[in-house]
Amino acid sequence: MRQKVLVARAVFADAIERLREHFEVETNDADDIWSQAEMIRRLQGKVGLFITGTQPIDAVLLAACPQLRAVCSMAVGYNNVDLPACTARGVLVSNAPDVLTQTTADFGFALMMAAARRITESEHFLRRGAWTKWSYDLFAGADVHGTTLGILGMGRIGQAIARRGALGFGMRVLYHNRSQLGAGVEAELGASYVTKEQLLRTCDHLVLVLPYSPASHHTIGAVELALMKATATLTNIARGGIVDDAALAHALRERRIAAAGLDVFEGEPAVHPDLLTLPNVVLTPHIASASLPTRRAMAHLAVDNLIAALGAGPHAGRPPTALNPEVLARH
Ligand code: 8YV
Repeated sequence: MRQKVLVARAVFADAIERLREHFEVETNDADDIWSQAEMIRRLQGKVGLFITGTQPIDAVLLAACPQLRAVCSMAVGYNNVDLPACTARGVLVSNAPDVLTQTTADFGFALMMAAARRITESEHFLRRGAWTKWSYDLFAGADVHGTTLGILGMGRIGQAIARRGALGFGMRVLYHNRSQLGAGVEAELGASYVTKEQLLRTCDHLVLVLPYSPASHHTIGAVELALMKATATLTNIARGGIVDDAALAHALRERRIAAAGLDVFEGEPAVHPDLLTLPNVVLTPHIASASLPTRRAMAHLAVDNLIAALGAGPHAGRPPTALNPEVLARH
């Protein structure tokens, strides 16, 4: 009998076709958001699960689905998955790193530039017919080139943003991270390690690219925002919850910082109502990785992992981007 897998959200048809070559597949063509009870119901008898970065996988679900052996996500961030609980139950988990790095860095840079140069604010002005004449300071914003770029979280995406800033825009790059990069990488990126406080005080444009965990909750709140320059911008392409959105809205309204670019929000897809009323924030619906080629690559990487984790395909038993490969010995 063929092994059964569940695909929790709608995804590219060719990715599903690849799963069908090996497994009996249940899909979610309507792209409904299933409750945990619904997910548990549909997982009965399934050994594999394809998810995105938005389905919570916790100990309650795992206990109710004892046949589950692999959970493969098409996201790089995996704060939605209780990895220790999966490992304890022998469930292989994979994420989707690398394939989205450059696309996500492009978007982070675009959001930072849009905030600095007031692109969406000025477009709204134009669309509502308010543009009647040129004036010397019409939507005059901050420069990006030649300024100081601050990066909080210097993993793969942070480094790709640093490279764009240093090499493309002549920026001085400062960063803070759990661990300092090697001297060779720092030299290549033109990046200097500083304390979080130095970073906040010094940079002109701060970009957040750190993973979410209880330890990184509200890494940027009222205290941190107060340290930043009044002319600075803040861009968040990491996760909602890293920024205290109420405190950010307050700082933007009071012009304690100049502008922000946000792709992720606390409690998304809900957005803090105060942010919606402010002109000096660029808001996008969690699309930093959303180029078609990249989303396709993310989905296919999750498929590669699921096929391999369940012992099929050319990489049987060797899922390429497993987070807890040690559990495979127990399968
Ligand atoms: C995804 C992301 O679009 O990869 C991540 O961690 O946040 C985004 O690229 C989202 O999680 C859906 O999988």
